[in-house]
Amino acid sequence: MKVEFIKAIKIEGAVCAPVFAGNRHSVGADALDEASGGAISRAQKVSRFTGKAGQALEIRSPSGMKADMALLGGAGDRDDADVLVWEAFGASAMKKVQFSGIKTLTFDMRGLDAKAGARAAFGALLAAYRFDHYRTTLAADKQPSINAVRVICSDLAAAKTAFAPLNETANGVYMARDLVSEPANVLHPEEFARRAQGLEEFGVEVQVLDEKDMKKLGMHALLSVGLGSNFGSKLAVMSWMGADDPKAQPLVLVGKGVCFDTGGISLKPGAGMWDMKGDMGGAAAVTGTMRALAGRKAKANVIGIIGLVENMPDAAATRPGDIVTSANGQTIEVQNTDAEGRMVLVDALWYGLTRFKPRQIIDFATLTGAIIIALGHENAGVFSNDDALASALDVAGKTSGETVWRLPISAGYDKLIDSKYADMKNIGGRGAGSITAAQFLRRFVGETPWAHVDIAGTAWKDSSDDPREPTWATGYGVRLMDSFVAQTCED
Ligand code: BES
Ligand code: ZN
Ligand code: ZN
Repeated sequence: MKVEFIKAIKIEGAVCAPVFAGNRHSVGADALDEASGGAISRAQKVSRFTGKAGQALEIRSPSGMKADMALLGGAGDRDDADVLVWEAFGASAMKKVQFSGIKTLTFDMRGLDAKAGARAAFGALLAAYRFDHYRTTLAADKQPSINAVRVICSDLAAAKTAFAPLNETANGVYMARDLVSEPANVLHPEEFARRAQGLEEFGVEVQVLDEKDMKKLGMHALLSVGLGSNFGSKLAVMSWMGADDPKAQPLVLVGKGVCFDTGGISLKPGAGMWDMKGDMGGAAAVTGTMRALAGRKAKANVIGIIGLVENMPDAAATRPGDIVTSANGQTIEVQNTDAEGRMVLVDALWYGLTRFKPRQIIDFATLTGAIIIALGHENAGVFSNDDALASALDVAGKTSGETVWRLPISAGYDKLIDSKYADMKNIGGRGAGSITAAQFLRRFVGETPWAHVDIAGTAWKDSSDDPREPTWATGYGVRLMDSFVAQTCED
């Protein structure tokens, strides 16, 4: 998608202008109304469009106008119009025109802050995402027609400067969505590792550990998950050292990369199992974040570590009751081979902690179905041993739109994961499934400020009313982490 910032008004395609609450027209909305001889105002009256945030109104082929479509986007109270309002404004307009046959979408943002125009374009990009790689035919009316977004604004230089990093964030979100959407016969651990290596093009240093390397390090918790797979398990380590001080302690991000989760010997039911191609959503969030940070040359030291495995039933697979020793020496009784994400994470966390001595460590994982029962698809669950880190994540969630909700961990939950035969078992009981998973991770992180983000409910959604999100893989985590890094590492 081409994005351009322009001064002059080329009246063609679709033109979209904001209206604020109480029907307060922007300069652009007034211009559309005038050019159409008042058709816009009349259309508003018969559609109850008042400029409320999230509203969008389309008028096709307005008489007297050269444009094929005039669009109004509600921007709410002018004083409250934050970046999320402008993203939604841009995204809603894109949704209205994407399949119309019109090729260009122009936002008339005259008289508004340059950031508003940049955010509208960002929102439009997020909304335009498609995953059509595997279709050999696509009906004409299902083909997206928009191939360019234009923004008319007063301060071109400022708008371009505001948009450049957002374009990179969008690239990171697109990458994460692609990774989650790819089927597991294509995106297996070896292929995922290659895609991570592709980030070298953007200046990220990438190292891939194979099974031999991990065996030497004693990472048997992670390795136990991939024993039934024909693909070798991998650990990919991506470094972006962009801070002024290259020696400054890094932020480490860890991602669960279960390229397919059958459940293993504790096999999952067949219905819906296809969604488990997305069980690497944590690794996708981390990889997409690295893409975004490197793309926009973030002034921060950030390491991304992803544990890449495939959880398959097989004669060589881990059995319920097996006991394995993790890299930090603690032993785990595997009571359920479907609780495999935590096995991958604890060794990846150990690697991040021992090798990088991070200032903070945050893991992302589609870890538990129970988090969907608790929070639905609106918030990811956050668990942390550090109040300041938890509240920084809350702020990053609110400003990026990828919101989180904190849930508790505490010693009281430990008894649920104590094992008769080993230091711990990998499942709790019926209750508090997301918490016992987090409490399990807690046993491996020590005093380093750590947060665990359970994204099982947000990495993909069967439907979404957020115009920025496609119908399945959301790329959740990239915008959250991009904001978190900007707010806590770069100031
Ligand atoms: N990958 C799943 C969790 C999941 C479920 C993600 C639904 C997305 C949507 C995870 O590995 C798993 O199977 N967890 C089990 C844990 C249980 C065996 C303790 C679960 O949630 O049922
Ligand atoms: Zn599982
Ligand atoms: Zn899983």
